[in-house]
Amino acid sequence: MTSTLTGPSAAAAEAHPPAACPAGAGPAGAGTADGPPGGGAEPALSATVGGSLAAALRRSAEIEGQIGRNPRQFRILTGDRPTGDLHLGHYFGTLRNRVRLQDAGAELFVLVADYQALTDRDADGALGDRVLGLVLDYLAAGIDPARSVIFAHSAVPELNQLLLPFLSLVTTAELGRNPTVKDEIAHSGRASVSGLMFTYPVHQAADILFCKGNLVPVGQDQLPHLEVTRLVARRFNDRYPGPGGGAVFPEPDALLSGAPLLLGTDGGKMSKSRGNAIALRATADETARLIRGASTDAIRRVSYDPAARPEVSSLVLLAALCLDRDPVAVAAEIGDGGAALLKRTVTEAVNERLAPFRARRAELAADLGYPRQVLRDGGGRARELAAATLDEVRDAMGTRY
Ligand code: TRP
Repeated sequence: MTSTLTGPSAAAAEAHPPAACPAGAGPAGAGTADGPPGGGAEPALSATVGGSLAAALRRSAEIEGQIGRNPRQFRILTGDRPTGDLHLGHYFGTLRNRVRLQDAGAELFVLVADYQALTDRDADGALGDRVLGLVLDYLAAGIDPARSVIFAHSAVPELNQLLLPFLSLVTTAELGRNPTVKDEIAHSGRASVSGLMFTYPVHQAADILFCKGNLVPVGQDQLPHLEVTRLVARRFNDRYPGPGGGAVFPEPDALLSGAPLLLGTDGGKMSKSRGNAIALRATADETARLIRGASTDAIRRVSYDPAARPEVSSLVLLAALCLDRDPVAVAAEIGDGGAALLKRTVTEAVNERLAPFRARRAELAADLGYPRQVLRDGGGRARELAAATLDEVRDAMGTRY
């Protein structure tokens, strides 16, 4: 995601436009070898964003229809980097969509991507606390551990073991031209880039493939990673047909949410590190303060026109999302009440919408034994699946001795 180094990912994720692709951010030596290692005729990894976005959106609409008809055919895997509290962008961009899919009857796996978060060295607070905070956000939002599996990377050694064979299936050139990774590097402001920064998309393929996830709800910035996942699955299946000749891995689809873009209170991309995001767990007073300081513009009459008036429109949109109303109608109602009435409306709408979430989260946070147990149970379930997949991988590769 565009935001990544900072915000919990999915956040940004589901709500953001494709990452820009600054040139020249590839790893040293990338850009030479190009084809799939070991040859092969399948298409190499391309920069997904742009050209194929329309196709991804069409495919998502088709899948939504299939979910409506038969949700049980989907095993959904999605996740977030534990980099800080989830905020409203996450809620409307992804969290509530996950709860909807769970409630529709799809099988849902939610990953706390604690190894991937190691690329975000500047996140505040201890990693362990951020992980528990993320789990509290999930639980308070309605992800139900009785129906869905919540787990962390670090608890599933068998998942991590897939990384090595998977890495052998992609070239350094492919790793170096991933537009989301390039964007993260460009925004990191760091002179040196870790190996993990280039390889985490392959690790993300292991996240999705260990449980044979076939559907991944993501934002546009994650499409390149989904493309890596599909490529790895395809190349693995080609190179190592299972004992019966069948494919070991599915080629998962992305599910893009139609969620509209919410900006931060300063009119920029919503991200915790920019101080412009309203955390779901923020108090009503903190929420009021952030909204009071939000940027607007010099035109008194409030209207909904995201292209011409991005700041005002994002506030209108936030109120509309919280109230389950149409933003044009909300703007018309505020009309000449101007920015002051707009901000009052937004503050009340947000605080009212989040009140049940906040109450539930505070209750859950009183005993951290519970989120820890949720992670242990989820990790146990994930390990069973990962071990079974690893056995199939060993059979296919001929490494079961
Ligand atoms: N890369 C995602 C992000 O930054 C987080 C993530 C890790 C993820 N593994 C995943 C998302 C697997 C979907 C599927 O937001």
